[in-house]
Amino acid sequence: MSTQVSIVEVAPRDGLQARKEHIETAHRIELVERLRRSGVARMEVGAFVSPQRVPRMADTAEVMNAVGASERAGDMVLVANERGLEQALEEGARAIAVFTAASDAFAEKNIGSTVAASLERFALIVTRARYAGVFVRGYVSTITDCPYAGPVDPIAVAPVAKALRDMGCQEIALGETLGKATPARIAAVVEAVAREVPISAIAAHFHDTYGMGIANVWEAVRLGIRTVDAAAGGLGGCPFAPGAAGNVATEDVVYLLNGQGMETGIALDPLLDAVSFCATTMGIAPTSRVYKALRSV
Ligand code: HMG
Ligand code: MG
Repeated sequence: MSTQVSIVEVAPRDGLQARKEHIETAHRIELVERLRRSGVARMEVGAFVSPQRVPRMADTAEVMNAVGASERAGDMVLVANERGLEQALEEGARAIAVFTAASDAFAEKNIGSTVAASLERFALIVTRARYAGVFVRGYVSTITDCPYAGPVDPIAVAPVAKALRDMGCQEIALGETLGKATPARIAAVVEAVAREVPISAIAAHFHDTYGMGIANVWEAVRLGIRTVDAAAGGLGGCPFAPGAAGNVATEDVVYLLNGQGMETGIALDPLLDAVSFCATTMGIAPTSRVYKALRSV
């Protein structure tokens, strides 16, 4: 099996979407550019969602323009609805992500509809995006736990993943939104989903609230997943998932995979420079162990 793992850097989107403080657009732009310099090839640069509900993503068009996202197949934006798709296409997005969940309770809080209704809505959006030649990822959030309804049965995740795949999503990202699960629960979900979606089309998107993120990433890789989401500095969180911490940190994932003889194409030192930029210029404290080990004084 391949030793190459593709990391999708999500700090400029997931990492910043739930911040309480104002974020300068120039800082979001510089973060994207610094992350790129470390070798990141795929990155979520923003989201076309309701600015009333997620104000930190309101400058996504400006960020996309400044970083030349329309020229880069690896730059992705989240799209919540038809209007979001229009905006993404207008800005020349080459990759989008639609997002639903395995739990109705979370979907209703996050995107204002049940899972079934969201799938109906996204079918048209995905068809249109694919017709325009845009790469489409489909997220399934709350794969093991829902902040409102508790534990989620792995069997509930697979049909949502299959529905996204059937409507044309080229990649299915499994979102462990709360960062609570341990590897055995991740394995149960991955095995259930892999019966419906080829493992090469599955991505792991794990939050790290209980410190299980790195163990869960390794479990996913061990099971054959080769696309892993991570956020520099361990930034992240969803405004509609109370109690959830950031994503598993990119530098922790790169350190893990390097040590296990795998390749990511990302150089640790410039990546840590990007995390330092978050810490010093943006005032966002990193949570990662590797950053603390290598850069804290
Ligand atoms: P809604 O409030 O149910 O209804 O939004 P609406 O469609 O009537 O919209 C409300 C207002 O937002 C209206 O403004 C719309 O015009 C505006 P008003 O008329 O009141 O002045 N609006 C927009 N404006 C600009 N661009 C748009 C847009 N859409 C609406 N695209 C909606 C429904 C789905 C839009 C809303 O609920 C929404 O934006 N949800 C997104 C929430 C979100 O971004 N969550 C975080 C990302 S998901 C995540 O983090 C999980 C993930 O990381 C995986 C994991 O960890 O599990 C991906
Ligand atoms: Mg997330």
